[in-house]
Amino acid sequence: MSTDATTFESNFSAESYYATQSPPPSLEHDVRNVRDFVRKHVNAGRNVVLVTSGGTTVPLELNVVRFLDNFSAGTRGATSAEYFLKAGYAVIFMHRQFSLQPFSRHYSHSTHPFLDFLEIEKDDNHSSARINVTEKERAPLLEVLTAYKSAHTAGLLHTLNFVTVNDYLWLLRAVSQELAVLGRRALYYLAAAVSDFFLPRQKMSEHKIQSGKGSLHIEMDQVPKILKPLVSEWTQGQAFIVSFKLETDPSLLVPKARQALARYGHQVVIGNDLHTRKHQVIFVSPSPGLDNEYVETWVRIDPSQDLTKEVEEDIVAELVHRHRAWIETSPTS
Ligand code: PMT
Repeated sequence: MSTDATTFESNFSAESYYATQSPPPSLEHDVRNVRDFVRKHVNAGRNVVLVTSGGTTVPLELNVVRFLDNFSAGTRGATSAEYFLKAGYAVIFMHRQFSLQPFSRHYSHSTHPFLDFLEIEKDDNHSSARINVTEKERAPLLEVLTAYKSAHTAGLLHTLNFVTVNDYLWLLRAVSQELAVLGRRALYYLAAAVSDFFLPRQKMSEHKIQSGKGSLHIEMDQVPKILKPLVSEWTQGQAFIVSFKLETDPSLLVPKARQALARYGHQVVIGNDLHTRKHQVIFVSPSPGLDNEYVETWVRIDPSQDLTKEVEEDIVAELVHRHRAWIETSPTS
């Protein structure tokens, strides 16, 4: 560990976090591209959604060999991004590097490798060959490819990536500052699984931690809760903000979601249980006009009825509806 470890102040507020942890080298470049994307869609009068997706890592060394990670594959974020595009939103897809992405997620190398549904057709004398898509895969591929090409041709999808929790925190703040010009027309869909603990760079070992000294003891610091400044400072209470709450004990979902709403003052928490998250979630939101009262609504699909149905389709439809109402109730709309 670095020599500063014993003297370093380690109780982070968002402010002290950004004052002491370094931004990722690509931040300025990323922000410029986001600015151009946002400007284009503001001028076109389009709503913009920021979708965060996938898990963040926590490096243990400055020259990183080892890191902590979490389970998220980015399915929720990648799937939802497609439905937001379908609903006419411009989408900033901020995702963990190499996690699932909109459109290409249908052909993940582990679940549905595309080489498996390509066929080689040779001519009679074997002098040339063509590649065909198998009959069964043709229609679904055409649908995905059409949506993909149309989103890209219209410039409706902008992707950004992060690896560490530090990348994520810097990017989220910078992107939210660019989205501020949209006021109520910005929607935040925070589906990324963000680490709760991290190792400040001042406490990290410069080189690979050596194993010769027996067991390893690391004390991590808490990642500051950035939903608070996101809601009240960076978006100035204008944007429609949806956070997610993941639990493994379902009885904690509603109380934790309510607690987050009371603490941060945003619009919706979507609660999901690790084991049932692919077919049910619960929307928790403040009850209009009533302090400390909340409305809870389940969104469920029945996979035994329709294997192709995705719960994200209904989640996004409900949010688009709520976001529209949010824009319409604006005193300045
Ligand atoms: O990717 P999949 O495999 O499809 O899984 C999807 C999912 C289960 C990861 C997703 O649906 C989900 O629940 N994401 C949030 C999980 C999580 O990290 O919860 P949390 O309690 O740590 O954070 C709550 C919210 O605050 C999240 O929206 C998170 O993005 C945000 N947060 C949390 C901590 C922090 N320091 N900053 C944040 O922005």
